[in-house]
Amino acid sequence: MPDKSRWIEITEDNPDHSAWYIQRFKDMAAEGHDLDGEARFVDAMLSRGSRILDAGCGPGRVAARLTALGHEVVGADVDPALIAEAAAVHPETTWFVADLASLDLPAEGVAEGFDVIVSAGNVMTFLAPSTRSDVLRNLRTHLRDEGRVVIGFGAGRDYDFADFFADAESAGLESLITLSSWDLRPFTPESDFIVAVLGAAAA
Ligand SMILES: C[S@@+](CC[C@H](N)C(=O)[O-])C[C@H]1O[C@@H](n2cnc3c(N)ncnc32)[C@H](O)[C@@H]1O
Repeated sequence: MPDKSRWIEITEDNPDHSAWYIQRFKDMAAEGHDLDGEARFVDAMLSRGSRILDAGCGPGRVAARLTALGHEVVGADVDPALIAEAAAVHPETTWFVADLASLDLPAEGVAEGFDVIVSAGNVMTFLAPSTRSDVLRNLRTHLRDEGRVVIGFGAGRDYDFADFFADAESAGLESLITLSSWDLRPFTPESDFIVAVLGAAAA
């Protein structure tokens, strides 16, 4: 069994956390916030009808938008309350309760790999630290040939960007593009956010 996700520890400490998180995004949508930046980024990487995995999808913000744009999308998340919300609100997307540290979608009947795997919203910083390399390895094994992984998270959350790139390399992922935002701003040593596009390293 992988160590417990930090997110699950938070929800065990505060049983209202998942409901609070769901409501927070509903409120932001109602207030007219633009919640589609990550989906736009991923959509620009792909032709219509591509296969996308939203890894750590939460209540489905990114996956649902990508489904609406005409992609074939699977969302996976360790929090059953968030997946229940995603499935209730967005039944057109395929959802799984799954820990990314032990992700095995072929065992769930999803045999085909993905063109892009996106992990937005600081998911990497909510993993159990001991599972980070395993999660990155699992993302790589769920890619199609030429598929890419896109990961965004902030600085100051106990996962240094340098450690992330070292873990990615150990998981067989090489860095292709590094940005500091979902609207394509360049990454600099001062950046406090990273959007990393990775691909399977040559064997
Ligand atoms: C801040 S939320 C982001 C949700 C979504 N990606 C978004 O941007 O709206 C972090 C998410 O990471 C998920 N997560 C954390 N550890 C996980 C793990 N080991 N496996 C799958 N999901 C995980 C949580 O359940 C939570 O939904």
